[in-house]
Amino acid sequence: MDNNTAAKKVMVSGIQPSGDLHLGNYLGAVKNWAGLAQEFDCYYFMADLHSLTVRQDPKELRRRSVAQLAQYVACGLDPEENTLFIQSNVHEHAELGWIINCYTMFGELSRMTQFKDKSAKNADNINGGLFTYPALMAADILLYQADFVPVGQDQKQHCELTRDVAMRFNNIYGDTFKVPEPYIPKVGARIMSLGNPTSKMSKSDPQGCVFLMDKPEDIARKFKRAVTDSDTERCVRYDIENKPGVANLMSIYSSVTGKSFEEIEREFDGKGYGAFKPAVGDAVIETLRPIREEAERMLADKAYLQQLYTQGAQKAAYVARKTLRKVYKKVGLVEKPF
Ligand code: TRP
Repeated sequence: MDNNTAAKKVMVSGIQPSGDLHLGNYLGAVKNWAGLAQEFDCYYFMADLHSLTVRQDPKELRRRSVAQLAQYVACGLDPEENTLFIQSNVHEHAELGWIINCYTMFGELSRMTQFKDKSAKNADNINGGLFTYPALMAADILLYQADFVPVGQDQKQHCELTRDVAMRFNNIYGDTFKVPEPYIPKVGARIMSLGNPTSKMSKSDPQGCVFLMDKPEDIARKFKRAVTDSDTERCVRYDIENKPGVANLMSIYSSVTGKSFEEIEREFDGKGYGAFKPAVGDAVIETLRPIREEAERMLADKAYLQQLYTQGAQKAAYVARKTLRKVYKKVGLVEKPF
């Protein structure tokens, strides 16, 4: 018997299926998530309902939701040890989302910086969903009685809101929700664009971005063209202020090989950028090769993928249903008669 299971703390995180995964997502987040399942009971879902706040091509959204699942598994998130599912497959998210909406204040939502940013970027489609998105996110988290929410800095404000709403609800109705904490991992590199090393690697800048599914020759080309620095010494030395391009390549190389910055400096002593850039490219190619191949194998097997997200949704729904039933009772809804 595994006595640990009952005592494991719960982690919940959602990923919007808005683009293909890249090296920054992998080295900065997903790679670390793979190790968390030993210690935590982890739920990760493709947040397709969230993606609808921005207009999507229906076919593409559906394709990406499943493709992303395959990529996460290929990155090492074991579907037996983690609960991996597609958000809209567990209808309790939408249902609790509505209720949480009714306990989240207009003023609170108005202060969310992501709403302000996204409405500036999508000025022709500032819809209600974009505004109330944090209430759905709170529901995502509270459904599973999460202890921790592994997220990037940009989601901290939404996590704070989740805590406030959970406490508000608990104050009115008695203990209902676990009040979760954001979990910002200790390790995890911040990978910058290869073309512009002072901004984060992002899918919207495809030349500076290495996708997990990129072919080896594309990866090699992107690293060969990576911006280094125009300093005269042209040596591989970690100096984030003055040599951000080289520092970024060193972070990448260090993440994929496990070598320290000192070791890397020694390895390339006297060799210059011409030797360094392709070496980083090769190391990345070898790291991503098994991930891409595994993802391709899964993507060719629709039945297997469907079985994966079915099993994930069933596991998730079992827990979600319990929380939702409790909430319905507390707020005064009539129990479902069938
Ligand atoms: N809002 C998150 C993002 O854009 C995605 C997300 C949706 C999420 N629901 C969540 C993250 C619940 C953590 C927990 O990145």
